[in-house]
Amino acid sequence: MQQQKIIILDFGSQTTQLIARRLRELDTFCEILPYNKFPADDRDVIGVILSGSPYSVYDPEAFRVDLSQFWGRLPVLGICYGAQFMSHELGGRVEPAGSREYGRANLSYIDFENPLFHGFEPESQVWMSHGDTITALPEGFHPIASTSHVRNAAFAADNGRVWGVQFHPEVFHSVQGTQLLRNFVVDICGGRQDWSPANFVETTVAELRQTIGTDRVILGLSGGVDSSVAAVLLNKAIGRQLTCIFVDHGMLRKNEFQNVMRDYECLGLNVIGVDASDKFLTDLAGVTEPEKKRKIIGRDFVEVFNAEAKKITDARWLAQGTIYPDRIESLNITGKVIKSHHNVGGLPEEMHLQLCEPLKWLFKDEVRRVGRSLGMPEHLITRHPFPGPGLAVRILGDITREKVRILQDADDIFIRGLRNYKVRLSGDEARRVLAAGVPADMQNGEIEVSLYDQIWQAGAILLSDVRSVGVMGDERTYENPVALRAVTSTDAMTADWAHLPYDFMAAVSNEIINKVRGVNRVCYDISSKPPSTIEWE
Ligand code: XMP
Repeated sequence: MQQQKIIILDFGSQTTQLIARRLRELDTFCEILPYNKFPADDRDVIGVILSGSPYSVYDPEAFRVDLSQFWGRLPVLGICYGAQFMSHELGGRVEPAGSREYGRANLSYIDFENPLFHGFEPESQVWMSHGDTITALPEGFHPIASTSHVRNAAFAADNGRVWGVQFHPEVFHSVQGTQLLRNFVVDICGGRQDWSPANFVETTVAELRQTIGTDRVILGLSGGVDSSVAAVLLNKAIGRQLTCIFVDHGMLRKNEFQNVMRDYECLGLNVIGVDASDKFLTDLAGVTEPEKKRKIIGRDFVEVFNAEAKKITDARWLAQGTIYPDRIESLNITGKVIKSHHNVGGLPEEMHLQLCEPLKWLFKDEVRRVGRSLGMPEHLITRHPFPGPGLAVRILGDITREKVRILQDADDIFIRGLRNYKVRLSGDEARRVLAAGVPADMQNGEIEVSLYDQIWQAGAILLSDVRSVGVMGDERTYENPVALRAVTSTDAMTADWAHLPYDFMAAVSNEIINKVRGVNRVCYDISSKPPSTIEWE
């Protein structure tokens, strides 16, 4: 059966990826493309969504699209800027909005007969976020929803091919937003809801067998979700033709190397574990400058990985756990790069390996669903992201084995505490956690999850250049502080500090100061991204 997809044209909104995620949650397929890259061959395209944008239609640098490429042929849904752009292009009026068009609003009028609003509740809550508003619709268009302040909150063309909404159905605060997207994609465009992890595994395994044949494949494992799921998928497809390499650079979490190696062996993977910690720590001795640290680690990693890879002389493929957001970020149309992460690893060029990226169309939550369907243990699947350079970017100052040991111990107490502390969630919070793929049963409108599963990422940072005075028993101490960092996020591009419960923080702080020799003070990082970043270096 021919793959069918919705094209989301990206005008640079921060929530474009969320639109795609919502469509994937509906088990339909979609692809995000830059606003000016609508495909010439669109035989598999069943509908088009125009995203929001940081620009106003009146900005000279605003992104514009030639609507004639799909106009009248394919159903179109404009969201926020997408809706305003269409109105503006077709002769409607768009003007600066009042401040009331930010945040929650309720739809006071809804045309329940319009297919876009099938199944909607009266007064449904939506999320507004726009600086301009459509004050007059083009000819041939009519409003299909309003709020008390926004008459044209949603509109449709009389010809039944075009819709626009000035609110954001993709964000959680638009309570029936997913229903609206479902109505567009499934009812209006005729999208099939046939994506399932089991189907994905079945078709991908068949494709991998077909393309790889009897060749040998090398894959670099990091202990993270993406590379682990890619490995298990490939293992299912080609078994012992796959060799995985897992490098210990000496700055992983406490016991991580041993634990992850054990997990991999239980999963039946053919893994070579390389303890290269001496090399990394020797090369890093005395280095304090963050970028220099990253460069040394990147270089050493490539050297160690390549030395192992070259032993597999008949390898033809290098497999990687690249996922869809990794690729969208590199396609970022606004071209603003905040901080470049060199993911450690590199292609041994002289080996002329071809690249195999079986997860390249998936979002993180889909990768997790695939992992579950492959029978992988939950602790591997729900694991937080961890930076390639590891604790090196969480030790401020030079790196020594002793500092790594101190940080590993503090981090271990923090992470174990997060896993053990359970919280009950309801409403928006519960929905957000469930949509991120966390397995939890809803009972009486509530779910119980650990703090660990509720947050995106957490860790401890050793401020090894800072010392402060404390008192332990009768002794004066003069030791380092540890900072704790925990953030909520959907994609790591933006993040907020997690509002952890005070009793939890008190217990973790006590345990760290009492048990970790070398630490006499614990702080909590309350900075969001931007302007801070998640990692301290
Ligand atoms: P920042 O610090 O830029 O981090 O807010 C965003 C996300 O990327 C992770 N990170 C890295 N991941 N190699 C990686 O594989 C790196 O060099 C690297 N630096 C940061 C970070 O943990 C967060 O999830």
